[in-house]
Amino acid sequence: MFSLFALLSLLYGASSLSLEVGNKQSVCDAATLITDGIMDYYEGTRYGGAVGMFQPPYYWWEAGEVFGGMIDTWYFCQNDTYQQIIYDALMAQRGTGNAYMPMNQSLTEGNDDQGFWAFAAMTAAERNFTNPPSKEPGWLALTQGAYNTMWQRWDSGSCEGGLRWQIFTWNSGYDYKNTISNACLFNIAARLARYTKNDTYADTASTVYKWLTTIDFMQLNGDSYSIHDGAQIENNCTVINGAEWSYNYGVLLGGAAFMYNYTGEQSWETEVGRILSGMSIFLNDDVLFEQQCQSSNTCNNDQRSFRSIVSQMLGATAKLVPSYTDQIMNILEASANGAAASCSGGSDGHTCGIDWSKGSWDGMYGLGEQISALEVIQNTLVLTMPGPVDNSTGSSQGNPNEGIGFDETSNPHQITVTQKDKAAAGIVTFIVLVIALALGAWMIV
Ligand SMILES: *[C@@H]1O[C@H](CO)[C@@H](O)[C@H](O)[C@H]1NC(C)=O
Ligand SMILES: *[C@@H]1O[C@H](CO)[C@@H](O)[C@H](O)[C@H]1NC(C)=O
Ligand SMILES: *[C@@H]1O[C@H](CO)[C@@H](O)[C@H](O)[C@H]1NC(C)=O
Ligand SMILES: *[C@@H]1O[C@H](CO)[C@@H](O)[C@H](O)[C@H]1NC(C)=O
Ligand SMILES: *[C@@H]1O[C@H](CO)[C@@H](O)[C@H](O)[C@H]1NC(C)=O
Ligand SMILES: *[C@@H]1O[C@H](CO)[C@@H](O)[C@H](O)[C@H]1NC(C)=O
Ligand SMILES: *[C@@H]1O[C@H](CO)[C@@H](O)[C@H](O)[C@H]1NC(C)=O
Repeated sequence: MFSLFALLSLLYGASSLSLEVGNKQSVCDAATLITDGIMDYYEGTRYGGAVGMFQPPYYWWEAGEVFGGMIDTWYFCQNDTYQQIIYDALMAQRGTGNAYMPMNQSLTEGNDDQGFWAFAAMTAAERNFTNPPSKEPGWLALTQGAYNTMWQRWDSGSCEGGLRWQIFTWNSGYDYKNTISNACLFNIAARLARYTKNDTYADTASTVYKWLTTIDFMQLNGDSYSIHDGAQIENNCTVINGAEWSYNYGVLLGGAAFMYNYTGEQSWETEVGRILSGMSIFLNDDVLFEQQCQSSNTCNNDQRSFRSIVSQMLGATAKLVPSYTDQIMNILEASANGAAASCSGGSDGHTCGIDWSKGSWDGMYGLGEQISALEVIQNTLVLTMPGPVDNSTGSSQGNPNEGIGFDETSNPHQITVTQKDKAAAGIVTFIVLVIALALGAWMIV
């Protein structure tokens, strides 16, 4: 196996990834190589591909996670190679309600999926990413659109509150309330509060956070939280699915960090410490691993990307909560070294694996492995750059009423239209094919 790859590397003239943490050029060279690997999965620049989408089997939500990571590369490395691609993706997927609810995703989109695209838009605002023209909604407005539609779905009809996992009744999981959907709302509300200085968002963030602790999805044991996946509403959310995923911790950590940075309240700093302490279950000598599935080799495509958002939120927290900067940088740097060592596979010689403790490629590959390695490696640069901007230093256009009144129930109708469109597109493709074949036959004759 090894010699085969050595041979392939020679044939392809490929180099494995080298990384010197602390050296910006080295980090950005690594980030760039990994990003090129990400773009191998991108269908938006291919003929017939949807702008903003990665090829199957990667779901819509993960694209939001990837573009959020690519905005970081744009910012940390000041490299605008993919600026237009990121911009086009964020605009193409915003949906008619300007809330990241494109009609054609209503068979897959849950509150958490919407949340991950809102993260990308919020990151664009916080990084002062190239703005849309003033006649279009800005990144801030698009995040507000997602926030407004999510907050309107707050459901006091069961479990004393909380968001359901799913948005649409026809998707399975509609009767499940989960941590990640609520963590997304909490994180977005906290970031909107800090950016706009509008306390209404901070109130929402506090409400959501309090609910997560009251319902016991976040359980405090001593000084650290155990954070669980969620529960069915049929038993009033009392039978909790205890799975512990790194992204629940990461997204809550980041939200608490923004709340601390905005309010300056010590209670939020304490919460940051408690979540971070709970994250020790994902560390192997400071190197991140997805403990719920990684050792059993059962992580699915979604789960293989979780350490991406975790790394981004660790980076944000290191910047926003000075008392935890050192502890977090140790984790990011150890994990970045491990991730870089795992990025030595495939025919290009720098395809990333899942195991960051192995010291070499473990044979795994995919969009999740690429984006996780990218985020952990580039977030080692977080202290070299200014932190997230707010409305006094940034330039993103907002609209507190974006998305309000957007009729989500119009989606089923739109699905029908989409299917018709697909049928029409199929017929066109067929006709083009027939003509091409006829032409080919004619030329041979
Ligand atoms: C910017 O990124 C592109 C694509 O990832 C890469 O080819 C290029 O070398 C990078 N530029 C610099 C100055 O590092
Ligand atoms: C979904 O609709 C958007 C417009 O809202 C379009 O840009 C995109 O190509 C469509 N995606 C797919 C997968 O068909
Ligand atoms: C603050 O946010 C709330 C909730 O979205 C909104 O209703 C209100 O208009 C905002 N206030 C200002 C001054 O923007
Ligand atoms: C549901 O659980 C909450 C606490 O989480 C409790 O206050 C409430 O009374 C319960 N409702 C029902 C109907 O059991
Ligand atoms: C908030 O974050 C900034 C960096 O963006 C940092 O300089 C500042 O000290 C933080 N505020 C608090 C209260 O820690
Ligand atoms: C920032 O938002 C606050 C609260 O909405 C507002 O009072 C202030 O004028 C805004 N600042 C800028 C520069 O827009
Ligand atoms: C943000 O972008 C605007 C518009 O490009 C620019 O005028 C402003 O100086 C930028 N702010 C920062 C903090 O870089």
